[in-house]
Amino acid sequence: MTATFKSRLKEAQESVEACLKRVLPAESEGPGELHQAIHYSMFGRAKRVRPALCLWSCEAAGGDPERALEMAAALEMIHVYSLIHDDLPAMDDDDMRRGRPSCHKRFNQSTAILAGDALLTEAFAVLAEAYSEDGLLVRDLVRMLAKAAGASGMVGGQALDMAAMGAHDALSAEEKLKALERVHAWKTGALLLGSALCGGRLAGASADVMGRLETYGRCVGLAFQVTDDILDCTVSSAELGKTSGKDEAQGKLTYPGLLGLAGAREKADTLLSMALEAIAPLGSEADALRDLGRFIVDRSL
Ligand code: IPE
Ligand code: IPE
Ligand code: MG
Ligand code: MG
Ligand code: MG
Repeated sequence: MTATFKSRLKEAQESVEACLKRVLPAESEGPGELHQAIHYSMFGRAKRVRPALCLWSCEAAGGDPERALEMAAALEMIHVYSLIHDDLPAMDDDDMRRGRPSCHKRFNQSTAILAGDALLTEAFAVLAEAYSEDGLLVRDLVRMLAKAAGASGMVGGQALDMAAMGAHDALSAEEKLKALERVHAWKTGALLLGSALCGGRLAGASADVMGRLETYGRCVGLAFQVTDDILDCTVSSAELGKTSGKDEAQGKLTYPGLLGLAGAREKADTLLSMALEAIAPLGSEADALRDLGRFIVDRSL
């Protein structure tokens, strides 16, 4: 990670966190521990990749990234809800997230479920409020976000991920790879793709630029989860801030599981090249997006 990228990422993280603090109710608000749980999960150690993707896609398409801040905050709210629910005993049953006890461990299961529900719902309210002067823009952003997060996006992918455990033993290697790509593209890729598209829409990008952002978003979206699988089996829990070695223990379909570590790394690199090629014609405004693509594949947490 270059020093320039590091400071740009930090700047994006700080401005999105400030925006999140503005749009979320205070931690001290009731009922019960709901808002404490939301703040606890929201403000831990986090990369804020989806917000950065949104801000910098807006910039790459010639827009003002400031305008995309609330959109970026809404994307992070959906992401954090997905993490809280992903860790629940009925899902991955994970005790650790962002370097500390997961939400249901620190609070309890009902509070964690409701904190996730609240974040999902409030994300749409943030959009409707922030862009209310442009009804067509709100319509498009709501549509894009719902598609990315819903039953044929992230939630559908989580359902496939759950159903996939131990269910593909009879498939050929090629069929397993196809099934895996679908799980990953949906459970993780869809929200990253949505982040890029919403950024482009906020900039009023042309159809050509939207098409480029779409290819870029699809490729880095899948590469993100390929890398997550690699980190799960190569980095310690302490460094990752979440339990490592979990995928194999739970019989998940993963890229290192099917292709081996070297094969999985090659897959991530190929996806990165495709992503960079798609945005090659964009000017220096797309440099942050280029660096973000590299970070997604080279990161160590
Ligand atoms: C983890 O996401 C969950 C996946 C979709 C793989 P991140 O790796 O972006 O987690 P944070 O937000 O930085 O904690
Ligand atoms: C999670 O995938 C995808 C989500 C939609 C949250 P993982 O289950 O691999 O994410 P981690 O490794 O727990 O962060
Ligand atoms: Mg999971
Ligand atoms: Mg998990
Ligand atoms: Mg994982």
